[in-house]
Amino acid sequence: MSESTDPRVRHQELVQEIEEHRARYYGDDAPTISDAAYDALERELRALEDAHPELAEPDSPTQTVGAARGETGFASVQHRERMMSLDNAFSIDEVEAWLTRVSREAGEQEVVCEPKIDGLSISLTYESGVLVRGVTRGDGTTGEDVTANVRTMSDIPERLTGSHIPAVVEIRGEVFLPLAAFDALNARLVDEGKPPYANPRNTAAGSLRQKDPAVTATRPLEVTTYALGALEWGEQGADARAETQAGIYDVLAGWGLPVSQHTRVLTGVTAIEAFLRELEDKRHSLVHEIDGAVLKVNSRAVQGQLGSTSRAPRWAVAYKFPPEEVHTRLEDIRVDVGRTGRVTPYGVMTPVTVAGSTVTYATLHNRHEVKRKGVLIGDTVVLRKAGDVIPEIVGPVVAARTGDEREWTMPAECPSCASALVEQKAGDKDMRCPNAKNCPAQIIDRIAFIGSRGALDVEVLGEKAAAALVEAGVLANEAGLFALTEQDLARVPLFTLESDSKKDGVERKAGDVSTNGLRLLDNLATAKTQPLWRVIVSLSMRHVGPTASRALATAFGSLHAIRAASEEELSAVDGVGPTIADSVTRWFEVDWHQDIVEQWAASGVRMEDERDQSVERTLEGLTIVATGSLEGFTRDSVKEAIISRGGKASGSVSKKTDYVVAGANAGSKADKAEQLGVPILTEAQFVTLLEEGPRAPS
Ligand code: IVH
Repeated sequence: MSESTDPRVRHQELVQEIEEHRARYYGDDAPTISDAAYDALERELRALEDAHPELAEPDSPTQTVGAARGETGFASVQHRERMMSLDNAFSIDEVEAWLTRVSREAGEQEVVCEPKIDGLSISLTYESGVLVRGVTRGDGTTGEDVTANVRTMSDIPERLTGSHIPAVVEIRGEVFLPLAAFDALNARLVDEGKPPYANPRNTAAGSLRQKDPAVTATRPLEVTTYALGALEWGEQGADARAETQAGIYDVLAGWGLPVSQHTRVLTGVTAIEAFLRELEDKRHSLVHEIDGAVLKVNSRAVQGQLGSTSRAPRWAVAYKFPPEEVHTRLEDIRVDVGRTGRVTPYGVMTPVTVAGSTVTYATLHNRHEVKRKGVLIGDTVVLRKAGDVIPEIVGPVVAARTGDEREWTMPAECPSCASALVEQKAGDKDMRCPNAKNCPAQIIDRIAFIGSRGALDVEVLGEKAAAALVEAGVLANEAGLFALTEQDLARVPLFTLESDSKKDGVERKAGDVSTNGLRLLDNLATAKTQPLWRVIVSLSMRHVGPTASRALATAFGSLHAIRAASEEELSAVDGVGPTIADSVTRWFEVDWHQDIVEQWAASGVRMEDERDQSVERTLEGLTIVATGSLEGFTRDSVKEAIISRGGKASGSVSKKTDYVVAGANAGSKADKAEQLGVPILTEAQFVTLLEEGPRAPS
């Protein structure tokens, strides 16, 4: 759809579009645009009406709240007092502008700051303390009667507790589905072969608007209350009047209603900004989703003085976090061949900014995931990037399809070496390229992996360097990596100088090996001396990651001994098991694998750990879990310290755990230890234990 430049026409377009989206958002249909894109439409409409006030009719979406009325199957109920919406601020500057307006009219004010819960609003009516009605917001004036469903929610009391109960009160709050419940519900749906829900808000809305309350009862919906609507005190409650917003929350809590535990009363933009940043940081650790913060003038007298527009109070503002879900176009689906030959489909999208970074690619894991998500090439898709989590394609926006989309099929051949792809075992989710020996993509990925931090940690050796070495014909595979010489690198354009130069008084000619190339050789020399377990990791045996590698290195002490061990001996090792034992045994049977080991050994790569005789085996037979951050140890060195003394370094606490070492910010593992009665050591006590063994007094 092309946008009109005539303000009147554009205004009409925007009104129509916004109304359609509102109807979907508040109704049963899944939204077709992201919250961020919707906010942008509203902002454009507001700006247009600011510039052309004659366009702002009383029924414009800038003046109204929620969905226009339609047939919904629920009885309509008029709210005694209208349910308002909130104006948005999309930056600290906009928050500051709001504060300035408030101060100008009423002087500097205390502000109640609280999370903006991403759920759906509800109005609960209590008469003489008894719940008589639960109503959705609807268009703000009239909502849907969902009383029967509300009664199934365990944290909404049938009867208010405490004293000072009003004759009639409307209590406003947000209904939400806790994230954990959402995840569990989706996991169950996927197990049953059904499509999962898109997000907790939609799920909560769908759950509250069930025709059958028995269905609602199975969804663990919760509520947080944050405002009062109509209020008739009668005689009984007359002296419970709250003078502040924070006071209202105390009254609500006194009546037995859930209120937010994250509310703070603050003054001044600096303190408020700090609150907003802190809340954004812990955005993903709350029990429910939040999409921002709500700021409310604390004094109710000042609230009255500031008043409201037709749709929102002037005494409150919603600060919206940058969006974590955006819409973009899925341009293509391609596949990547990994170091173990696994062929992984990934989406190529029109680049978009989400949660502060530009995203173009997102993994789609395997062909079944592509099917399950139901995405087609050309689809508008929901892309989500939550916090530090890698970006994920959530699913298609089906309503935005044009008919030009096309289905993707998994290629039958490896895009790198054209071998026919296979399932490792019948029924495997993953497809693999079986050509481990000669597939360039696999070879490059294996070489780059050797450089990664979890393996031999060769700084200069990444994906690009690995590709350059292979493409220049200097390396046929990883076998020759540690035998690389300066003459070899002189044949690799990435590692040679483009033009003559002078560095530290030394003349250097075009074609000479660059500083980076020399650093690679240096790094490789250091890498050869890394502990045995890192060498094992670097061999890219399937299923053999750092944990299994450490276990193998500790149990056998040398690569030679691991190779000589029988499958039974291997699987008897704690932390190894039959799958890994089988994988290790099969790996050594392959002749070109043996060639890698021989060439690495010839180049001086460590093939056995010297057992440090000076370290006493003080922890023989003990299982120890370290958690939180320790001052004198890294994650790796604490494991080394335990293992080299004969102990087992475990990642999870159980009844079999002998000690838990708790550093700073130790979390759930320390809690679990406490529950199970496992002794918890400080770092200092742990150091004593290392030296003296369990005889050490704790
Ligand atoms: S106060 C008169 N507080 O956000 C003020 N609203 O975008 C009424 N919301 O309609 C709202 N958390 O559904 C308030 N802590 C909170 C909120 C909150 C979420 C919702 C509410 C409101 C919408 C406005």
